[in-house]
Amino acid sequence: MTTITIEKIADYVGQTVTIKGWLYAITRKGKLMFVRLRDGTGMTQGVAFRPEVGDELFELLKRLGQESSLIVTGTVRENGRAPGIPKGYEIGIEAVQVLQDVSDYPITPKEHGVEFLMDNRHLWLRSSQQWAVMRIRTTIKRAIIDFLDDNGFLNIDTPIITPSAAEGTSTLFEVDYFDEKAYLAQTGQLYNEANIMAFGKVYCFGPTFRAEKSKTRRHLAEFWMVEPEMAFFDLDDLMDFEEQFVSYIIQTTLQKRRNELEFLGRDLSMLENITPPFPRISYDEAIERVHAIRDAADDPELKAQLAIEWGDDFGSPHETELTKQFDKPVFVYGYPTQVKAFYMEPWPGRPEVCKSVDLLAPEGYGEIIGGSERMSDPDLLIEAIERHELPQEHFSWYVDLRKFGSVPHSGFGLGLERTVTWICGIPHIRQTSPFPRTLNRMRP
Ligand code: 4AD
Ligand code: MG
Repeated sequence: MTTITIEKIADYVGQTVTIKGWLYAITRKGKLMFVRLRDGTGMTQGVAFRPEVGDELFELLKRLGQESSLIVTGTVRENGRAPGIPKGYEIGIEAVQVLQDVSDYPITPKEHGVEFLMDNRHLWLRSSQQWAVMRIRTTIKRAIIDFLDDNGFLNIDTPIITPSAAEGTSTLFEVDYFDEKAYLAQTGQLYNEANIMAFGKVYCFGPTFRAEKSKTRRHLAEFWMVEPEMAFFDLDDLMDFEEQFVSYIIQTTLQKRRNELEFLGRDLSMLENITPPFPRISYDEAIERVHAIRDAADDPELKAQLAIEWGDDFGSPHETELTKQFDKPVFVYGYPTQVKAFYMEPWPGRPEVCKSVDLLAPEGYGEIIGGSERMSDPDLLIEAIERHELPQEHFSWYVDLRKFGSVPHSGFGLGLERTVTWICGIPHIRQTSPFPRTLNRMRP
């Protein structure tokens, strides 16, 4: 007997096969029983017809609890109405071996609160929606790596234990490093900048840590970030590259995970539309747009949330309302120097603005990429480090990069979980991490 995975069920129509998996749900209609099975690669429906399978097997199936582990043998049939992932197939049950009969599985088809589900995250991951999101996440990760590897990037790892802040001092996780204070990395960027001077184009892709003390739909305390960095790249080169990169990720995911995206109810036409070029607007224009949205808002609460002046950073409400105006990701470039990290190249002739660019996802999803052209002048950099009250001694190696063959260079960081949230079209980032870490939660 061939053991198959549900993912490949379409290749076995008319054949007798074995599936190893778990019982997701059972429904009965008289002499017919529908046994929904999942095996980690998909979900399908087993059909047991009492006169065919016999009373003994029928009674056994009837008593099985949700999440019982099973080995099912039967014949694969096409059935346009059969639910599943992929849908349209079923298996006519002939034999069942029960590995464990389960009772009282805590997550039932009834509605549960999200805190309960998060407490049971180790089990919740089995639910179809969570499963689909995680499959999509894996594919996005692979697409990121493939694109960079195929475009001449070297994957160089950067340290996770670091002696200083790079993205602001308010979100640091402290570690005791043999009696010295150290921090979990907020970014690998500064090390990437050393690496490009040796290797040209590099990226790091790994876990990143930020002690985010606010509860939002967009922040995790531990998230994955891919950070490409390129020598001889200016701000325009950076935007050209980012739109190719993001479009590739979307189109690859659409191609490889259509079933899962459809299962999540994602509007695929919104994703199909994501191709270069993406609109590019300056921070100045973005502020004007937000002002116009604020002035037009009827809801006084929204009006208050949208209060902002030139020089302020955008918060979630601003990004949400701004990106509702677009059906593609939008670049916002040239933020005020005062709201951005210390290392960004000043705008020529406008030192109050820097050569930064964020990429904001449409449909209200907001920032998925932060990036910039980096400061290439050593004296300006020393001044910036001072202005940000960062300890010069930790950055002397970083200044060295501007003394020995300095070149214009740029890079960015794309947050994996924010990208998954957008592509899946789900409301909250916590479902995109298998075991999310947030302000209130590090368990299970
Ligand atoms: O904009 P950020 O802070 O940029 C940097 O860290 C740069 N050093 C990157 C670089 O240029 N190499 O973070 C980049 C991205 C954000 O756009 C967002 O997608 C994600 O990382 N991100 C978070 N995702 C989830 N939870 C958080 N707390 C995040 N903080 C940032
Ligand atoms: Mg940012």
